Amino acid sequence: MTNKQTAIADIAVLGMAVMGKNLALNMADHGFRTAIYNRTASKAHEAAAENPEQNLIVCETLEELIASLKTPRRLFLMVKSGPPVDTLIADLLPLLEPGDLIMDGGNSFFKDSQRRSEEVAAAGFRFLGVGVSGGESGARFGPAIMPGGDKTAYELAAPVLEAIAAKAPDGAACCAWMGEGGAGHYVKMVHNGIEYADMELIAELYYILHTGGLDNEAIAAIFEEWNQGELSSYLSEITVRILREEDPADPSIDLDSSLKEDPIALELRSSGAPTGSKYLLDKVLDISRQKGTGKWTNEEGLELGVDLSILTAGLNARYMSMDKGLRVRAEAELPQGALTEASSLPDKASLAQAFLAARLLAYAQGFSLYRAAAKAYHWNLDYRTIAATFRGGCIIRSALLSPIMEAYAADSDLPNLLLAPAFRATLEAGIPALRSLLASTIATGLPVPAYAAALSYYDQLRAARSSANMISAQRDYFGAHTFQRTDREGIYHHEWPQTDEE
Ligand code: 6PG
Repeated sequence: MTNKQTAIADIAVLGMAVMGKNLALNMADHGFRTAIYNRTASKAHEAAAENPEQNLIVCETLEELIASLKTPRRLFLMVKSGPPVDTLIADLLPLLEPGDLIMDGGNSFFKDSQRRSEEVAAAGFRFLGVGVSGGESGARFGPAIMPGGDKTAYELAAPVLEAIAAKAPDGAACCAWMGEGGAGHYVKMVHNGIEYADMELIAELYYILHTGGLDNEAIAAIFEEWNQGELSSYLSEITVRILREEDPADPSIDLDSSLKEDPIALELRSSGAPTGSKYLLDKVLDISRQKGTGKWTNEEGLELGVDLSILTAGLNARYMSMDKGLRVRAEAELPQGALTEASSLPDKASLAQAFLAARLLAYAQGFSLYRAAAKAYHWNLDYRTIAATFRGGCIIRSALLSPIMEAYAADSDLPNLLLAPAFRATLEAGIPALRSLLASTIATGLPVPAYAAALSYYDQLRAARSSANMISAQRDYFGAHTFQRTDREGIYHHEWPQTDEE
């Protein structure tokens, strides 16, 4: 170790799992002298030895790490979210000096970041909860970065974070201060909720096309074509590559035995799967799991009273997928019901319009949650900046973000993204396309929960008079919960006719 005790490091990364290691390498690439630390020091030594040109400074103890850093110190935590973050912060606090900054770059729950921000400030130091998106390669070559917390702390962090962040097509760094406290992790959390919806919309389209008889190559060609225009997105791009990937002769890539496999019988696994296919996707079991950020987003929707039905469809589809045994049994035992003669699928152009509209509707739900959160948590969230930050590096980067930015540039206080005049044409074409997509899939018994949620959301949003008069009257009937009237002000209760038993 060279000059360990001399304060020469610009920043430290704590936690050398793949994301932490890649971020450290990314920082070093950009000319920042980077100190690294891992609880099991051998991992930090390995990271440095594998990348000698990066000149990483390995520190075996937190004391060494602190001594290696220029002041005010910048410490970037990349450890497992939850209690390990608190433990590490508690270990660091006694070693810090005023002005030092702790950043947490894990997928932490925003309320934890809010609390940590207050605790670290109370101890006399600074804190940023930093949302980082883009997976392993984003971390290495340019993630989208969503910091939240002390604004002065952001000024200290910005030179590093903006240098390592992805760059949008216009060259802007995909990194911006999102707001106080837990705002950064909140923005990242909702990003993941939208990610679940976007993934589900693609998966349902794939399922429709696959069930309709198209082979993987034909489906890939469709997504590839769409990827040239306004539907282009990272998730569609990887979908094309996934669709075309053939099953390797030797299928075993480093199975991690610490990842517990659920016991699922072989005959259940293959149920419904195509046989004799050369494609790897056809061999991938139809069970999708999650780490929880998408669930948090949906819980927040419930908490703040925001309809996130498309995002929820993405989450529920994962839950439903996990019950493979039940699904296999249900398919065998439950009546299918009479299906209308399979009406032909909408054409490719119509599917594209439905896809774009549904994706827009999912974003509209996610951004409605931001709007509610800004009010509930007193954050001054800038929706245009959020969309701008998503344009590069992150999982939901897509061409749709530019018109979203324009919509918020024109009206920063839009009550709902769909009201932006810029989206009128998308909706004019997309809503009828969504209706025909649903008409044909419902008639043929194909589950498309995210598309169904998208259209229902739209139709509910457009209903100037909804069905809630009936709910309100029912509540008043059985519980005297009162109601308001359409024709005059005031709160009313009515003595509704009761049956003899009541
Ligand atoms: C990102 C991703 C990432 C997320 C994984 C897995 O923006 O880089 O959102 O943070 O953790 O994609 O998420 P799930 O396990 O919940 O699907």
